[in-house]
Amino acid sequence: MCGIAGYIGPREAIAIVFDQITRLEYRGYDSAGVAFQREGGIGILKKAGKLVNLKQLLETEKPVSHLAIAHSRWATHGGPTDENAHPHFDQHDRIAVIHNGIIENYFELAQELSAEGHVFVSETDTEIAAHVIGREYEKSGCLTAAVREAAKRLKGAYAMVVLSVDDPNRIVAVRNASPLVLGLGEGENFLASDIPALLPYTRKVIVMDEGDLATLSREGITLEDGNGEEKTPEVMTIDWDIEAAEKGGFPHFMIKEIHEQPESVRACLAGRLQHDGSVKLLNTLPDDVWRRTERVTMVACGTAYHAGLMGAYLIESMLRIPVEVEYASEFRYNNPILRETDLAIVISQSGETADTLAALKLAKSRGVATLGIVNVVGSSIARECDAVHYLQAGPEISVASTKAYSGQVVTLALAALYAAQVRGVSTDLAASLALLPTRMAETLCVEEQCLSIAKLIRDTQLMFYLGRGADAAAALEGALKMKEIAYVATQESPAGEMKHGPLALVEPGVVAVFGSTDPVTRDKVVSNIKEVKARRGTVIGIGLDHPMMRNVCDEFIPIPDTGSHVVNAALSVLPMQLLAYHLAHLRGCEIDQPRNLAKSVTVE
Ligand code: AGP
Repeated sequence: MCGIAGYIGPREAIAIVFDQITRLEYRGYDSAGVAFQREGGIGILKKAGKLVNLKQLLETEKPVSHLAIAHSRWATHGGPTDENAHPHFDQHDRIAVIHNGIIENYFELAQELSAEGHVFVSETDTEIAAHVIGREYEKSGCLTAAVREAAKRLKGAYAMVVLSVDDPNRIVAVRNASPLVLGLGEGENFLASDIPALLPYTRKVIVMDEGDLATLSREGITLEDGNGEEKTPEVMTIDWDIEAAEKGGFPHFMIKEIHEQPESVRACLAGRLQHDGSVKLLNTLPDDVWRRTERVTMVACGTAYHAGLMGAYLIESMLRIPVEVEYASEFRYNNPILRETDLAIVISQSGETADTLAALKLAKSRGVATLGIVNVVGSSIARECDAVHYLQAGPEISVASTKAYSGQVVTLALAALYAAQVRGVSTDLAASLALLPTRMAETLCVEEQCLSIAKLIRDTQLMFYLGRGADAAAALEGALKMKEIAYVATQESPAGEMKHGPLALVEPGVVAVFGSTDPVTRDKVVSNIKEVKARRGTVIGIGLDHPMMRNVCDEFIPIPDTGSHVVNAALSVLPMQLLAYHLAHLRGCEIDQPRNLAKSVTVE
């Protein structure tokens, strides 16, 4: 989720675009750069690390220009280095490109271009896109046409902004699944990857649609659709304040990130889950490690631990090898039993959690292969593992983890699919995963129902979260969300455990959330629900639609079927996230920064 900025007009362009990407810092990044028109060509200045590094370089070089673009990069292809920072030149240093997203077919394009003599200086897919544009530019000599033709060769989700030495009064931008917004000024125009970067300069905003291509000059902006047909831009006037804009118009980062999940899961699958159901995992563990693994140990904390439980269901059901999911804080002191043929999977959004990092180091000291499932690129845990697969979810700002949870589950599912592929195990999980982004978008439509239920249970003092199979794992995550942002006491367990003790807590006013995403256990779940109803508890059901569930529950939230119980269970967490959010909001809780908690627990 990098930051993009652009300006063309009479003012000092570099100061403006630098200010713009500063306003996008909350999106997270690990390098930044600018490209600008100057006498005799295009200048590029870029640095790894925080914006202060780029600022020092700009203060030293003192470039002046009236046309510039800037980028803050959240590393995906290639580490956070000066060379990998954007912008990137084409093969003749005539075209400069910045880019958000992933070019899925970058490898084939790189092979094609290398065969034609192209040489690359970075590890990025962006540089490859720049060379594709440069090659088209050599044919047409028109920047807009070159970008249009190049976009036809690129597969994946991307937003690209392009300059040319020969066209010093023009910026060209193209959007495909990764957001781009344009700002209209008087004799000047702007662009950015998010609205907050435009608001100090203009409130007249055009949101580019999928496939749109825009050409910006001082005089104005022309827009064409994916078929090259000119279209009349739809100009909005934004009345948000800047803080609201950083949240995309949402009141809190948490609710923004809940709604980002279809997009972040789509980004997680991009380039990995192929249309034929096969999986491509770059820089994964060697195939013989996947082949010889006889047992998996997962270590994590909190939500990451709950994601691990979902991954364990998938790995055990597909590969028929045992999976132990351990709390990192326990694992590191329990002198665990580990064998050379074990695989340790380490799950962490931040990649900096102290207990998880210590558990990783212990596993490594026992000679066990280690795989990281991490969101923050280049984090300590990511660097320490033998291999790492990133969630590609973009920065998660709210302390309560939501899109990282779904990203962890999906990345674990991709790893399980890859292992099944290597071991020759057939599975239909790929079809369920491919459906997930769409099913998530459908599921988020129950938000109004979650709000009305939150109003009904607003004063509850104790909530049960219960389920069977993978729904028991979903219950743990739903309970944690309710605990950590609405400060409601919860009792979570497999539904079958209730009569062994927790049932004693049920009395009028107690609310029980039951997950039911597997028809096989539905009858048993209904029996457990009746145990709660008999003690005058209130029951909220979440799961596959069925008359029995609708009949026995006080409130029932349906979720669509993905064809996989585990994927359904992970999907059922979305209404639980929404329920926790709205109950917390009704109670006036802080939400993004809940009391006593931190986003990354880097101390024991
Ligand atoms: C979950 O909402 C919390 N933020 C917390 O449990 C978190 O999942 C845990 O601290 C692990 O963090 P990590 O994924 O960054 O390692």
